[in-house]
Formats: sequence, structure tokens, C-alpha cells
Amino acid sequence: MTTSEKIVFTRGVPPPEAFPTEDLGACLDAVVREDASVVLQYGQQRGYAPLREELAAEYRVSPAEILIGNGSLQLQDLVSSYLIHPGAAVYTEQPSYDRAIKTFRRRGANTVGIPLEEDGISIERLEAALEREVPAFLYLVPDFQNPAGSTLSLEKRRRVVELAGEYAFKVIEDIPYRKLRYEGEDLPMLREIDPTNVVTMSSFSKLLSPGIRVGFMISPEDLIGEVTALGEDTYLSPVLPTQAAVAEYLRRGLLAPNVERLKELYTPRWKAMAGAVRRELPGAQAFIPSGGFFVSVMLPEDANTQDLVSRASEVGLALTPGAAFFAAPDDGVATEGDRFVRLPFCAVTPDQIEEGARRLAGIL
Ligand SMILES: Cc1ncc(COP(=O)(O)O)c(C=O)c1O
Repeated sequence: MTTSEKIVFTRGVPPPEAFPTEDLGACLDAVVREDASVVLQYGQQRGYAPLREELAAEYRVSPAEILIGNGSLQLQDLVSSYLIHPGAAVYTEQPSYDRAIKTFRRRGANTVGIPLEEDGISIERLEAALEREVPAFLYLVPDFQNPAGSTLSLEKRRRVVELAGEYAFKVIEDIPYRKLRYEGEDLPMLREIDPTNVVTMSSFSKLLSPGIRVGFMISPEDLIGEVTALGEDTYLSPVLPTQAAVAEYLRRGLLAPNVERLKELYTPRWKAMAGAVRRELPGAQAFIPSGGFFVSVMLPEDANTQDLVSRASEVGLALTPGAAFFAAPDDGVATEGDRFVRLPFCAVTPDQIEEGARRLAGIL
């Protein structure tokens, strides 16, 4: 690696070596030939039926509670357009996934950020916000959060679903990283604690490929029906060949070994980023996750964060502006977004990670 090489700490995407190209290609080829009259046609508005059945079995729900669409972000946007009335509050973690914040705002939400702690959203601050206003929904990424990397503790999971029942609001749990755990044990999904008010969103983008655009949601059937109708009015029918390829991939038993392969690929990168952050940025508050794609840091107050992204670019380091991940704060106090740095580690090699962390430390 040369010092002139650009290092990209902006992309929360799988690298090309993560794609199961041969197997996925074979599955796509097989389903297009074997089920052409369905997968090359309009139809299956709730998603390719065999894939809905696979997912229903995995999540122990009825297929009527599953909707598969063109990536989970689009489903989330459709859910937002149904649930958000202009001016309604949507609560998110602070920081939260920037594109989700954007879609909520586009649908007219007053998006309010509730501080994120190492073990997930601050319950105290959530309760205080609920006293003021009940939101259209609360959006959470409970496992290996994007952008911070935090995971919601069991105790907080229980309290969140309890509060959703008490105050009658929906919780969207968005879990695309959940299966990429590098250490420790899974915590229950919110829906496993109590599904009454929970909408679960997930995706094959991080487990197979983002380009196939296969994401799904699980919720009570009435919401599935509403969102299906909105989807039909938006794109007629979902992209069926890739959904069918995923169904075939699952049927052949290929997903679990692929997830193991991804963990082997990402674990050294995760360790490299965790080590580099501790070594190069000892004064920062670091979130070191047990899985997923992101380490993050809150830089110390005396760090030089003026024009951080452009100064990083001058030393060949691409960073995402931290403020993009911050909704309006719940208490009106200015956000600390400029001190927040997301550090995606999956699409960079350990050498690039070491060098990138050194460059970041050098400009603070
Ligand atoms: C938390 C979260 N939700 C949703 C998405 C988008 O998923 P999809 O590709 O299924 O639209 C991402 C992608 O980075 C993400 O990090």
C-alpha cells in the first residue's frame, strides 16, 4: 500500500469478494429457465411465493405477514408514506442511518433523535420524549447499528416493546446486519419479545448482494396489505427473478455456509479497525461492535473537527460527514454530529484500515 493510495471509509457496502457470484448465478439461471412464466411476468405483488414461505418458516410467522420488495429501504419508504402524516414525529436513535432519516423527512416527518448509548437508545430520554409526544413510529437498528455499531441490550429491548404497548406506537426494527455476528450470542429480536407493535425489516443486501435488491418486512397483515397496494401503485410488481434466485439459494442450503464465509472474511477487518481505533484515537469514545459493518468514534471535544471531511480528503482519506447521521436533537441542544466519525471496515483491507486510522489521527 502506497501513501498516495486513497482510503475509503465512506462505503458501508460489501466488497466484490463477498459476493457468492458462481452460486447465485447458477440459481438465477435455474429459476429463469424453470419458472419463466412466473418470474419473467408481472405479478406476485407480495413477493415470490416460495421465498415468502421460506421467510415465514424462518421467522415463525404466516406468509401473509411477509412482504418482499426491491430492497428494504424502498419498503421502509412505503411504510413511512403510509404511517407518517405531515408534521408527525418519528423518533430515531441519535445518530441513525442517514438514508432512513432522509426518507422520513421526505414523507413530512419531524424526525427527532434520541441519544444512543453503548447499549442502545437512551430509555430515559425516550420516556421523556414520549411524555411530550407519541411518534408515528420509533425507528431502531438494534443489532450492530448503522452508523454507530451499538447493539440494544436485552433489558432495553424489553422496555422498548413495553413502551410501544403503553403509548401505542409502532417500532420499526431494521436488522440487515443481524446475522453477521463475530462474537457473542444473539439477543432476541424485538418481535420475539412481543410482535404486537413491531415491524421488522431486513434484507439480503449484506448477506448476498445489494444489487439484487431483495429486502423484506414482517408485520401484521393489515399493514402488509396497505404497503403492498402502495408498492403496486409505485412499481407494478417487484423484481421477481432475483427473489426467485434467493429462494433457490436458500432451498439449496447455501445461505448458512455463505454467512460463515463472510464472517471469516470480515473478522480480520473488524479486529484491525477495533485495534487501529484504540491505538490511533485513544482519546475518542469508541463504539466497538460484536458484528456488522461499522466501528464508530465520537472524537474528543478538543479535537480539530473544523472541515474534517475536506481535510481528510487532502490526505487521501474519504469520510462521511458525521452530521448527516443526526436528526434534530430531542432536547433542542446542538448536535455533536461534527465529532462523530463512522468507520465502515468490511470493504477495506487490514492494511488500508491501519493507514486510514493513522491519517485520521494525523489531522485531528
Ligand atoms: C440499517 C440499514 N437499513 C437498510 C439498508 C438498505 O438496505 P437495502 O439494500 O435492503 O435497501 C441499509 C444499507 O446500508 C442499512 O444500513
